[in-house]
Amino acid sequence: MTTATISLDRAFGLYRNVSDEECTARIQAARAKLGKSTVLLCHHYQRPDVYRYADLTGDSLKLSRLAAQQDSRFIVFCGVHFMAEVADILSKPQQIVILPDLAAGCSMADMASLVKVERSWRELAAVLDPDAEITPVTYINSAADLKGFCGEHGGIVCTSSNAKAILEWSFRRRKKVLFFPDQHLGRWTGYKMGIPLEQMVVWDFDQELGGLTPEQIRDAKMILWKGHCSVHQMFQPQHVERWRAAHPKGFVISHPECGFEVCKASDFVGSTETIINTVAAAPPNTEWLVGTELNLVTRIAEEFKPQGKLIQFMAPTVCMCSTMARIDPQHLCWTLENLAAGRVVNRIEVPEPDATQARVALDRMLAVS
Ligand code: 13P
Ligand code: SF4
Repeated sequence: MTTATISLDRAFGLYRNVSDEECTARIQAARAKLGKSTVLLCHHYQRPDVYRYADLTGDSLKLSRLAAQQDSRFIVFCGVHFMAEVADILSKPQQIVILPDLAAGCSMADMASLVKVERSWRELAAVLDPDAEITPVTYINSAADLKGFCGEHGGIVCTSSNAKAILEWSFRRRKKVLFFPDQHLGRWTGYKMGIPLEQMVVWDFDQELGGLTPEQIRDAKMILWKGHCSVHQMFQPQHVERWRAAHPKGFVISHPECGFEVCKASDFVGSTETIINTVAAAPPNTEWLVGTELNLVTRIAEEFKPQGKLIQFMAPTVCMCSTMARIDPQHLCWTLENLAAGRVVNRIEVPEPDATQARVALDRMLAVS
């Protein structure tokens, strides 16, 4: 099969008005033609009309491991941009990773950029010796060049399911951590490890020296980037309180991207995979309030209903990962039909030297977790 890249707009325009029903038939036909040459990886937040086509599903850690294990020529990644970048970095050189809509980004990942992180590193150097005293830790929800920065500066990548082990690794090497871009995952993990809240300071990247005094920086154990997830910030402690009043025997489970007070008010905190596994393993007829993205919660509410489990969404408003939802059946149909016709559209290819440096930080993570 030959590969060529065709213009995104001109080519996709034809698919915009294809009905969902027609997409279903055409996706199935394209997949039948592609056979084992193509594997479809899906994150748990993916919308149901795309998730149904997944060969393999997972949280960020599981998906990065799965990407590294595939033998198929094409990996179609139904997630967001940083996940597809990780798949490209960890897969074999001859494999091609495709993100059906290039606009499927992550608003949290966009809160940290290499320019800003490098500037912070330079500013921190006015107070201490960052390369001797600080391990840079990037949440996997970040661009490949930031993973590369961590690779180059003795740092590492973490996900929501291995953050504790990664921080332990980091503190064994250097006495402080610069954690980006999600302050909430960093704070919650540090708190569970026994780090006092006053030793975790927030680095406001729009202010000189992060808005901190040299003394605050010297006293801090963790410097937390002022980033967050726009979806998870919608969940509030009062949602938990109100639900508990109505369901006194129920359990609350949240993703660690939720704010500190929500995590504290929860019975369990964990990654998307952990949330699914915890609810799956619970006894029948239990009641659950879940603080994570709506597609996941709706899916497990349906799946576990036959066991008498009541599973409810934490916020009264709709909180979806709207960027991931950009991958719709039309974009999937477009990428698969092009592949079946021998054309690659929307390839994700991390350039050098970022790919090699990022791989260093990702390999460190995979070795630790
Ligand atoms: P998980 O690694 O738990 O799947 O989380 C990814 C994510 O982006 C959550 O918002
Ligand atoms: Fe990014 Fe938030 Fe979407 Fe997760 S839910 S991919 S952190 S925007």
